[in-house]
Amino acid sequence: MASTSTISMFLLPIVLLIWVSPAVLSEKCSPHEKKILLQVKQEFGNPSMLSSWNASTDCCTSAWEGIECTTEKPYRVSQIELHGLDLPGPVDLPPSLFNLVDLDELLIFEMPNLKGQIPPQISNLKKLTVLYLFSTNVSGPIPESLAQIKTLTNINLAGNNLSGPLPHLLPSLPSIRVIFADENRISGPIPESYGSFASKSLVTLTLSHNMLSGKIPAALKGLDAELLDLSWNKLEGDGSVLFGAEKKTEEITLAGNMLSFDIGKVEFGRNITRLNLKHNRIYGKLPEQLTQLKQLTRFNVSYNQLCGPIPQGGRLQGYFAIDASSFAHNKCLCGSPLPPCK
Ligand SMILES: *[C@@H]1O[C@H](CO)[C@@H](O)[C@H](O)[C@H]1NC(C)=O
Ligand SMILES: *[C@@H]1O[C@H](CO)[C@@H](O)[C@H](O)[C@H]1NC(C)=O
Ligand SMILES: *[C@@H]1O[C@H](CO)[C@@H](O)[C@H](O)[C@H]1NC(C)=O
Ligand SMILES: *[C@@H]1O[C@H](CO)[C@@H](O)[C@H](O)[C@H]1NC(C)=O
Ligand SMILES: *[C@@H]1O[C@H](CO)[C@@H](O)[C@H](O)[C@H]1NC(C)=O
Repeated sequence: MASTSTISMFLLPIVLLIWVSPAVLSEKCSPHEKKILLQVKQEFGNPSMLSSWNASTDCCTSAWEGIECTTEKPYRVSQIELHGLDLPGPVDLPPSLFNLVDLDELLIFEMPNLKGQIPPQISNLKKLTVLYLFSTNVSGPIPESLAQIKTLTNINLAGNNLSGPLPHLLPSLPSIRVIFADENRISGPIPESYGSFASKSLVTLTLSHNMLSGKIPAALKGLDAELLDLSWNKLEGDGSVLFGAEKKTEEITLAGNMLSFDIGKVEFGRNITRLNLKHNRIYGKLPEQLTQLKQLTRFNVSYNQLCGPIPQGGRLQGYFAIDASSFAHNKCLCGSPLPPCK
C-alpha cells in the first residue's frame, strides 16, 4: 500500500508533465483569460454555438468561435465577435466580459434573448476602440462611464431596449468617430455638450426612433457630422442651428419631430446629399440656395407648414427621387413640381 502510493507520488508529476506540458508550453491563451472566457460561456448559458470554447484547447488559435488574440507576446484576447448565439432562454449580458481588460473590440449583436444592463464596469476595458452591442434586449441606461474609455472610436448601441438620458460626457471622447444609438427608448433632451465634441473626426451620430424631447439647444450650432439622424423623436424648437454653410453634413434626417423654425434663414452645407425634414412644423419660404446643392439626391420637406414658390433649378424638379411628394402636405407651397402658383 505504502509502496504503491510512493510510486504514484513519484510518477504522477512525471506522467502529468509528459502529458500536459506540450500543450501548455505552446498555448498562447493565458490561463487567466481562458478561465474568464469559460465563465462568460457559462453566463451565456452554454449555447451550443460556443462548443468550440473548450478548456482543453487554446483560445488564441482561431479555434474558439469569435475570439481573436493579439499576435505578439504577451498574447491577450483582443477581440470578441459573437452574433446570433443560440441562447437557451433569456440571459443577462455576461458580467465576466468586463474582466477581459485587454479587449480592443467587443461586438455582440442579434440576440433577442440577451437581456440585463450594461454595467458601469464596462470602463474596465481601457483599450476598447470598438463597442458594438446592437439588436439585443439589453435595457437600462447607457453608462456615463463609457466616457472614461478614451480609446473609443466606434459605438453602436442601436436596436436595444436602452432607456434613460443620453450620457452627457460622451462628447468628451477624444477620438470618437461613430455613434449609433437608434431604436431604443432613450429619453430627455439632447445635452448641450453634444454641440462640442472633443473629437475633430466625428462622422456619424444617429439617435432616431427614441423618445428624446425638449428644445434643440442653441449650442448644437457646434455639432458637425457627415451623417446626422435625429428622426422620429419628440424634439422641439429651432432645428436651424443644426445647419451651417461651413458644415461637412452630407446626410441630415430630422423627420418625425415637432421642430419649428423658419427654413428661409437656414444655410445649407454644400455637401448635402440627403435632406429629410418631413413631418415637422417647419415654416417659411424655401431658400433659393437649395438650387445650388449639387450633390442632392434625396429631399423631403413634406408635412410641414412651408409656404410660397418652390425655387426653380438645380435638383429640385424631378431629379432622381425628388418629386411632388417631396413637397406635399404643406401650407401653401406652389410651383413645379407642385401646381403653379396663383
Ligand atoms: C473538449 O474537447 C475534447 C477533445 O476534443 C472533448 O473530448 C471534450 O468533450 C470537449 N469538452 C467539452 C466541454 O466540450
Ligand atoms: C426583444 O424581445 C422581444 C420579445 O420579448 C422580441 O420580440 C424582440 O424582437 C426583441 N428585440 C430585439 C432587438 O431582439
Ligand atoms: C424593455 O425594458 C422595460 C423596462 O425598462 C421592460 O418593461 C420591457 O419588458 C423591456 N422590453 C423587452 C422587449 O424586453
Ligand atoms: C465637401 O466635400 C469635399 C469633397 O469630398 C471635401 O473636400 C470638403 O472638405 C467637404 N466640405 C466640408 C465643409 O467638409
Ligand atoms: C416624402 O415623404 C412622404 C411622407 O412620408 C412620403 O409619402 C413620400 O413618398 C416621400 N417622397 C419622397 C420623394 O421621398
